[in-house]
Amino acid sequence: MRILITGASGMLGATLANMLEDEHEVFGTGNSNFDEQPKNYKVLDLNAENYNEVIEWSNPNIIILSGALTNGNYCNNNPEEAFSINGISVKKFSEAANKEVKFIYISTDAVFPSNLHLAKETDCVSPENVYGKSKELGEFFIKFSDRPFCVIRTTIVGLNLNSKKAGFVEWIINASKTSEDISLFDDVVFNPISIWELADEIKHIISLEDFPNEILHISGTEIVTKYKFGIELLKSLKLETKTVRSGLISSFKDRAKRCNDQTLSCVYYQDKYKRKLPKLANTIQTINQYYEADKIRK
Ligand SMILES: NC(=O)c1ccc[n+]([C@@H]2O[C@H](COP(=O)([O-])OP(=O)(O)OC[C@H]3O[C@@H](n4cnc5c(N)ncnc54)[C@H](OP(=O)(O)O)[C@@H]3O)[C@@H](O)[C@H]2O)c1
Repeated sequence: MRILITGASGMLGATLANMLEDEHEVFGTGNSNFDEQPKNYKVLDLNAENYNEVIEWSNPNIIILSGALTNGNYCNNNPEEAFSINGISVKKFSEAANKEVKFIYISTDAVFPSNLHLAKETDCVSPENVYGKSKELGEFFIKFSDRPFCVIRTTIVGLNLNSKKAGFVEWIINASKTSEDISLFDDVVFNPISIWELADEIKHIISLEDFPNEILHISGTEIVTKYKFGIELLKSLKLETKTVRSGLISSFKDRAKRCNDQTLSCVYYQDKYKRKLPKLANTIQTINQYYEADKIRK
């Protein structure tokens, strides 16, 4: 299959491209070049007027839409850009690609409000910040794109293949290694899945004869606070945990509103597609495995 992945310079997209390359012809786009980029890679600014050139270049059967502005504060301060990249880009892909091309849109728990615990696919979305609203717009354009689509709502953790980038997990690890004090929220709960485990689920979805034309929640099966996650991660990597302090999101005033309950129910996906999603220990073990492998490579 020919697969086009946007956000292929980002945390999930780069790993997805890497893992799908064994079985498929993969084409990646991102907003910048990087040393570890996939073989078939092009810079595409999702603000571009149309995407005809990229569709012509990749001629995909499936497009995985992973490119997004993911920084909540940046989205809050730049709402037009957030709606353009996270939402309207879907409409532009829909206009550029013919109706047989299937779309997989990577969405987020942030489309739900704080008062929903273990949000289900059937729950009403009601995002509380610009990032969540812009992803809701992306979901809207997917649903009305008149083609097979799958929206995957998830909460991911992992390591960046792109050495120019560092996310949540790298931030925790680097702070421990440099003895920098950081604070992780002990009043924010989530059920994370690693990017490698999610990539396996996406591989499975792509392999299905009947493409799941629906919204799916795919995440980990255990709920944890961000603080506890950080501590467990460092313990597993045998790194010092002293630098991590327990903090409260409620005491942060100058940041984009972020839900303190980011949990997703994955019961529907597991039951219907007969999949077993990972527990927290598996997710941390997977990060550990890739972290150690990366150390050996370097
Ligand atoms: N990370 C999370 O906690 C999380 C949780 C739930 C859902 N998600 C969703 O999962 C997906 C992947 O997230 P991630 O963590 O891998 O994101 P990420 O590491 O922040 O990567 C974002 C990607 O989007 C690209 N991008 C940003 N602005 C662009 C523009 N104007 N034109 C073209 N590309 C642009 C970036 O390109 P450059 O880097 O080259 O600029 C990068 O490749 C996103 O759709 C996100 O909404 C993420």
